[in-house]
Amino acid sequence: MNIEQQKKIAAEKATEEVKNGMILGLGTGSTVYYALLKLGEMIRDGLNIIGIPTSEGTEKIALEQNIPLSTLTTHPTIELTIDGADEVDAKLNLIKGGGAALVREKIIANASKRIVIVVDESKVSQVLGTTFSLPVEVIRFGWDATQREVNRICGKSDLRGGIEDPLITDNGNYILDCHFEGIPEPDKIELQLNNIPGVVENGIFVDRADKVIIGTSNGIKYME
Ligand code: 5RP
Repeated sequence: MNIEQQKKIAAEKATEEVKNGMILGLGTGSTVYYALLKLGEMIRDGLNIIGIPTSEGTEKIALEQNIPLSTLTTHPTIELTIDGADEVDAKLNLIKGGGAALVREKIIANASKRIVIVVDESKVSQVLGTTFSLPVEVIRFGWDATQREVNRICGKSDLRGGIEDPLITDNGNYILDCHFEGIPEPDKIELQLNNIPGVVENGIFVDRADKVIIGTSNGIKYME
C-alpha cells in the first residue's frame, strides 16, 4: 500500500467513530481530506452531524461535501475531532502545523472530548522533532525579533515561504519552521516557546490525542 492509500484507510477508519447527532471537529490536511470525503458520503446516506472546521481550507472542502458547519461560539464542546499530524511519538505526542492550521487546531483540540489522529506510517517517530521541523505561528509585527528569541530555543528556524513571499496563515500571521535535533521534553518546549512575546502558538500537542490510527503498508495499526 502506498502512502496515499495509507492516508485513506486511516482516515476512513476514523469516521467509523462518528455517530449520528455528533458535533465533530474537522482537522486539516491531506489525510483528513479522505475523512471529509467519507463524511460527505455518510451524510448523503442520512448521517446527521455538525462540523467545526480547523481551517479555511477544511471549511471549503466541508461545504463542497455538504457537511453542515458551525462555530465554537454556538457549539463550545466538541464530542470528537479527527485530525492529522506531521509527527507522532509513542506517547501520542504530536507535531502539527505542516498545513499552517496549528492555532485553530489547538483551539479545537482543547474544546474536544476525544481526539483521533490519522496518519500514514511515515509520521511515526521515536523522538519528536527528528523528522519534521516544528511550526511556530508568530505575529508579523517584529517577527524577526521574535525569531531571534525562538532560535535561542531551537537553534535555527526558517520563515515559511521565505522573506519575498511569506506564507500568511488563516489568522494573518507568519510561520517559523524550527529545526530541532529532537524534542525529548515536548511539554517544556511547548511552554517555553509560547512564553516568547510575538509567538501565538506552536505545533507541539502534548497529551491531547486519545488514539492514533496509522495506515501502514500492512493495513491499519493503532496507538492509544
Ligand atoms: C495542519 C496539520 C496537519 O494535520 C498535518 O500537517 C498533517 O497533514 P497531512 O495529513 O497533509 O500530512 O497539522 O496544520
